[in-house]
Amino acid sequence: MRSPQEVANTRRYAAKLIADGLTSPQIQRKTGISRSSLQRLRDAVKRASALLTTAPSAPEAAPAPGIHSWDERKNSAIVTGTVAAEREPHNPEEMVEFARIDLTKWEVERAISNLWHGQRPKDAGTIQLWHVKLYLKRRDPANVDIRVQTREVIAGMMGARARSIKKSGLAGSMFAAVANSGELHLAKKGWAAETGENYDLKIAADRFVRAHAEQAALLKPYQPEELVFRLGDDFYHGEARGTTTAGTPMGGDTRWPKVYREGGRISVVAIDTYRQIAGRVRVLINPGNHDKEQTFCLGEYLAAWYRDCRDVEVVNEPAPRKYYRWGQTLILNAHGNEEKESSYLALMASECPKDFGECAYKEVHLGHLHKQGMKHMHSTQNEDLGVIIQRMSSLSGKDLWHAQKGYGSVPGLDSFVYHREGGRIAHLTPRVLLSEVRA
Ligand SMILES: [Fe+2]
Ligand SMILES: [Fe+2]
Repeated sequence: MRSPQEVANTRRYAAKLIADGLTSPQIQRKTGISRSSLQRLRDAVKRASALLTTAPSAPEAAPAPGIHSWDERKNSAIVTGTVAAEREPHNPEEMVEFARIDLTKWEVERAISNLWHGQRPKDAGTIQLWHVKLYLKRRDPANVDIRVQTREVIAGMMGARARSIKKSGLAGSMFAAVANSGELHLAKKGWAAETGENYDLKIAADRFVRAHAEQAALLKPYQPEELVFRLGDDFYHGEARGTTTAGTPMGGDTRWPKVYREGGRISVVAIDTYRQIAGRVRVLINPGNHDKEQTFCLGEYLAAWYRDCRDVEVVNEPAPRKYYRWGQTLILNAHGNEEKESSYLALMASECPKDFGECAYKEVHLGHLHKQGMKHMHSTQNEDLGVIIQRMSSLSGKDLWHAQKGYGSVPGLDSFVYHREGGRIAHLTPRVLLSEVRA
């Protein structure tokens, strides 16, 4: 029997062949996929394309009728063609569609169209024709539009299903848990000779999966009715173009499609682990300053993966701060690189006035510094007007830049348990074994 990963890979490959325009018997021969599964996949690809209406069109299958010249050089191409006037491809978008340009490979630098009159054969009068010319530049493969990649991945996944999880004796507890993902920086690279420890895609992914299994084991005795999995905080390390979101060049693993998929895989592993110990899991996507776009796409990927699971909700709103309330506790989630710490209490009061007024306990959960720390901020007279500012640990290793600057941290995770009426009752810190980090 094939593993779920193999099934997903087959579907992803079949989705690509659909996009390439192969017939059903050809796809079945290449993949071994059943006729009914293939039909479901075709429907899913159609739905995924409709969801991403702004994404570029699918790769070309054959030159469009009317294209009579495709002059291709190493990094450029000039396409010319003619079409009857009623088609009217007079703006660049229509011309790209008419010429079936694969926008994953080409960028349109310039587009020209002219209307002219041609003579019909046998004196049958004149016909209006558009003459079309497109100047194309080959795309840098390292700078492919992430929407295209996401569409393919989602299409591949839409034919598959998240697995169901058996739960027993979890309903009705008074507890909620907040589990942090641990600011992974999945694509970061460190070499022990330079930094004192090795860190790469495989090490990061293994560390993430092990640490979350341990964190789930620590939370299990509380039988939380709900578990918030805060996922993000520079999870990927950078954007697909090899920079932070703001454009600062980043080192690290540049195979971004591989990193993106691996991030999706280990997120699903961690979420399914938490589903086993909690009544329901709320995945709170909390992007960092390095990889806002990649993390948003991860949130959409996970929402598609768990769309039929009633015990999983993915919160992927683009707001800079996200709130969570459990009984008497209100928590503001942010990455923590933008706001002043002294402003959080006022932000909570203005952005969430009803919950702010009703909750006795307020907390702010932040990442970014890769250090665990907690401070109470309140006036000397009024503790009940105060807030706990909680910084989270990171699972990430060091790269050369951090080593040169002298920055370092102890790899770890933080999770918290809240009683519905009594607020925070536990802070759990499942340390990653240093023997594994420095092996
Ligand atoms: Fe970070
Ligand atoms: Fe950060």
